[in-house]
Amino acid sequence: MMKIVKNIWLLVCMMLMLSSVSMACYAKDKPAYKQYPWSFTGLFGTYDLPSVQRGYLVYRKACASCHSVQYMRYADLQQMGLTLDQIDKIAKTDQVLDGKDASGKDRYRPATVVDYLPAPYSNQLMAKSVNAGKVPLDFSRYGQGLRKQADYIMAILMGYQNPPAGFKPDQEGMVYNRYFPNHQIAMRSPLIKDGVKYPGGTPATIEQQAKDVTTFLSWTAHPHLIERHRIGIMVMIYLAFIAILTLLVKRKVWSNVK
Ligand code: HEC
Repeated sequence: MMKIVKNIWLLVCMMLMLSSVSMACYAKDKPAYKQYPWSFTGLFGTYDLPSVQRGYLVYRKACASCHSVQYMRYADLQQMGLTLDQIDKIAKTDQVLDGKDASGKDRYRPATVVDYLPAPYSNQLMAKSVNAGKVPLDFSRYGQGLRKQADYIMAILMGYQNPPAGFKPDQEGMVYNRYFPNHQIAMRSPLIKDGVKYPGGTPATIEQQAKDVTTFLSWTAHPHLIERHRIGIMVMIYLAFIAILTLLVKRKVWSNVK
């Protein structure tokens, strides 16, 4: 018996050693991301709507010139706590394509709440030609991976550091990023301190903007998360109630049977 226990113990130790060695090798190439306490993870996860709203401001100011959110209409911004009147005002400040004029040129008009948010490039070739051959991805579903994805986006946004000595990009237009695969990315650091003016005096540090835009990206991919969790909790309370009721009824029905 003791021998079996000893062998199992030895096996567990070996497995632990192996896994730490492989993790160390992995970590060497891919540094671990910092983990943030996101409000939207876990069973009771919910979105901090003021942060989502600030994130939208950051997105429009610092990301929308390259990354689209092609499935989002202005009206969807209601889910982040804005009224249709507020959204109407935001929409009017943007111009969207409205067919051609008499001479065949693109015609534009102010957006309305039913329009989709404008895309930065009309096609992928155009996007590639100005981004070192890479296409800035669409953000509609990008934040879907909740915690992991949010930590990854944060890592990329905060990962612009001084390159180590001898760093040489593979091609022109690539810059050093500690967390992007291969440590080089075709996106320059998109955030600058106070690059956006927040309402209510929240200081717009780079980290704050990064957190807010990451929250916005997660929300964009899960606009119904709050509602879904609320319904989930109600269903669980209901099921617990039914379970207790069933138990009580069962006891009552069988109480005469010894
Ligand atoms: C000037 C254009 C430009 C702007 C502005 C820009 N990006 Fe990018 N972004 C790119 C390009 C191009 C890539 C692809 C990089 C690559 O593949 O090397 C990229 C990649 C990314 C990635 C990594 C995607 C992956 O492959 O995993 C993230 C995250 C990201 N951008 C987030 C943002 C956020 C958030 C903002 C705004 C705060 C932003 N970007 C602003 C051009 C831009």
